[in-house]
Amino acid sequence: MFSLEDFKQFLQGNIVNYIDIDLTLWLTWFLSPLIITFLLPLVIVILFYLTAFILYIYKLHWRNIKDTLTAGDRWEAARKFVGAVWDAHGWIWHAYEINGMEKIPENGPAIIIYYHGAIPIDIYYFLAKVYLHKNRLVHTVADNFLFKFSGFSIIADCMKVIPGTVQSCVALLKEENLLAISPGGVYEAQFSRNYSLMWKRRFGFAKVAIEAKVPIIPMYTENLREAFRTVNIGRRLFLRLYARFKLPFAPVYGGFPVKLITHLGEPIPYDPNLTPEDLQNKVAESLDELVKKHQRIPGSILRGLMDRIPYFRKQYNSNHVHND
Ligand SMILES: *[C@@H]1O[C@H](CO)[C@@H](O)[C@H](O)[C@H]1NC(C)=O
Repeated sequence: MFSLEDFKQFLQGNIVNYIDIDLTLWLTWFLSPLIITFLLPLVIVILFYLTAFILYIYKLHWRNIKDTLTAGDRWEAARKFVGAVWDAHGWIWHAYEINGMEKIPENGPAIIIYYHGAIPIDIYYFLAKVYLHKNRLVHTVADNFLFKFSGFSIIADCMKVIPGTVQSCVALLKEENLLAISPGGVYEAQFSRNYSLMWKRRFGFAKVAIEAKVPIIPMYTENLREAFRTVNIGRRLFLRLYARFKLPFAPVYGGFPVKLITHLGEPIPYDPNLTPEDLQNKVAESLDELVKKHQRIPGSILRGLMDRIPYFRKQYNSNHVHND
């Protein structure tokens, strides 16, 4: 398990020799934006809704819960509950929506390939909504470093988050599951600007799709980088740190309650004639197309906030269409 002490020792052992900065200051700098802008609103809203939701269920839905408790695996009731809390958070904090929910199949496997924000909050809201509204659990592949934190394993167990090798992903899909992968991962999270994809030569997902013979659904969330941003200064240092440790060191700030809309693209069907490289290109093109169609570039936090008001949103859309 991975405690703060271990983390400090890890940092002291590895980095302080490498770059000469005060560790405590650096840690504070690294953690405080997260605490102030993310946890604070999150905790308040969660507490509020947890209370309201428990009472609500107890009063109205006791029978439904009793049924679910015996229906699926042992996590099912807890998953629905956590899903409802996140769904409520997305609704309040970001007026979160999914555009193209019908692209998610009712049955059978598919891979969802998504653009990775500074913090991928969209995927948490997305998982919750798909689970609650379509009764389908989307398995996800997460970066290895997350599994080193204590507390993550129980979430991973409940929400079916895996470190993800080609074999394990193919096996999941053969069992008719949905699987979400972000080829850019924490690299894209830290260094993407203007919603550009940063996949380098990562074909793993395409190999999985071809081997499992499943379609790919592109996914990107409008205004995601206005909700959380990575700092723009010190980019070269963080690139070097990432290259060396494969960990996301670039500080994140935000928590801005901008409008978030997840857009799902047309599913790209399995095609035996495509190489993994071709398929990767095809998916990247389709994702870029989604971004071009729906994203204001450069992004704006203020306009992202205004998007919550239908009047302003309509105006932006009509201007945007006009410009095309
Ligand atoms: C982002 O897009 C804006 C407007 O098109 C452009 O001026 C800016 O240079 C871009 N930034 C990067 C890092 O590509």
